[in-house]
Amino acid sequence: MKLQVENKTRIDTKVSVPGDKSISHRSLMLAGIANGQSRISGLLEGEDCFSTLKIMKKLGVDITRDNSGTYLVEGKGLNGLKEPTDILDCGNSGTTMRLLSGLLAGRPFYSVLSGDSSLNSRPMDRIITPLTKMRAQIWSRQEGLAPLSIKGGNLTSINYDSPVASAQVKSSILLAGLSTKGITYVNEPAQSRDHTEKMLKAAGVDIQIDGNTIKLNSSGQPELKPLDIKIPGDISSAAFIIAAGLITKNSKILIKDVGVNQTRTGILDALEIMGADLTIKNKRTSSGEPLADIQVQSSKLKAVEISGELVPRLIDEIPLLALLATQADGVTVIKDAAELRVKETDRIKAISSELRKLGAEIEEYPDGMKIKGNTQLKGGIEVDSFGDHRIGMTMAIAGLVAENGITVNNSESINISFPDFEKLINNL
Ligand code: S3P
Repeated sequence: MKLQVENKTRIDTKVSVPGDKSISHRSLMLAGIANGQSRISGLLEGEDCFSTLKIMKKLGVDITRDNSGTYLVEGKGLNGLKEPTDILDCGNSGTTMRLLSGLLAGRPFYSVLSGDSSLNSRPMDRIITPLTKMRAQIWSRQEGLAPLSIKGGNLTSINYDSPVASAQVKSSILLAGLSTKGITYVNEPAQSRDHTEKMLKAAGVDIQIDGNTIKLNSSGQPELKPLDIKIPGDISSAAFIIAAGLITKNSKILIKDVGVNQTRTGILDALEIMGADLTIKNKRTSSGEPLADIQVQSSKLKAVEISGELVPRLIDEIPLLALLATQADGVTVIKDAAELRVKETDRIKAISSELRKLGAEIEEYPDGMKIKGNTQLKGGIEVDSFGDHRIGMTMAIAGLVAENGITVNNSESINISFPDFEKLINNL
């Protein structure tokens, strides 16, 4: 598919964004292993979460959607999951594959997880190593590439120093930890998103957080309480709308009900340093997660330096920040973000190449980029998403300020996390 985006000014609107992708995956998984019926409203109805939903069904969990869009999940308990009779297709979703590997490592049966060509070329050794230390048996292609075959059961708990600040790695180990009879520790080099910890705690699991260390005590083999959860809007999706408001002239946008968990709001902190006119309104808590309305107005941005502990708090927004940096005063430097090279695509390479086609000046580093600001982007050309939803959406936002707009090829990937994106952008 191709997405055509026209140059725009004077956007004045009020919107909401789809449910948080990370929380949606976790809701389906934890509801599936809880004892009893969970209710999930605001679930992200995008391809990635549907991969998780279909797999939970293949593991024997009944999931239905009522007329109001609420999902009802009949949790079978951790011991109620059954051996799947077929390969578990994770599609494009790293969260599905890595978190479910942890969950399945603890179950006394055999399962095979596979994905699309992007997912099957992303590193899985980062979860195979700790899960194998917990005594799961896992086979992979080459050095840790999916498809993965897992023979689970009889795990022991570990104290694991994770070499990467990754919520997927952390969550995989914690979900495996539920099936041990001991205390599992995960130590992270920097804090990554903490939705798994929050949700496990809400389900009654004995879990404690001390700085960057998470301690999960499952000595009593926990029974998880069912959830009644209303999922907030995804700040990673809201970020695209925020960017649209900032870089188009004479614009004002209100985005309602966005999740503002502090492990995810690095983008707001970076934008504040860049001089963005943002107002966080109506802050409240729902289902244990903070949420707020975000108002944004056109702003003259300035360059920023992004590195260190801020990186995991805005990792998914870095391609978008690279676009914003082309419109800011000065030179923006992004470092410590080598993780971007192993996302749905190599995001450093992809965003640099596509923004350069519009005339941006970007130098690539192994772990980041240097981006020259104050660049009028040329348009009237075709760019590619490389099958990566966040690259596709970033380029669509670039089209709003490029002379003559742009066409984004392979735009169907946007359905991974933001199904109504095209409609929303065209109606802005
Ligand atoms: C996610 C964690 C992050 C993020 C991804 C979703 C999650 O990945 O980039 O989009 O839901 O746990 P890493 O754990 O690989 O950093």
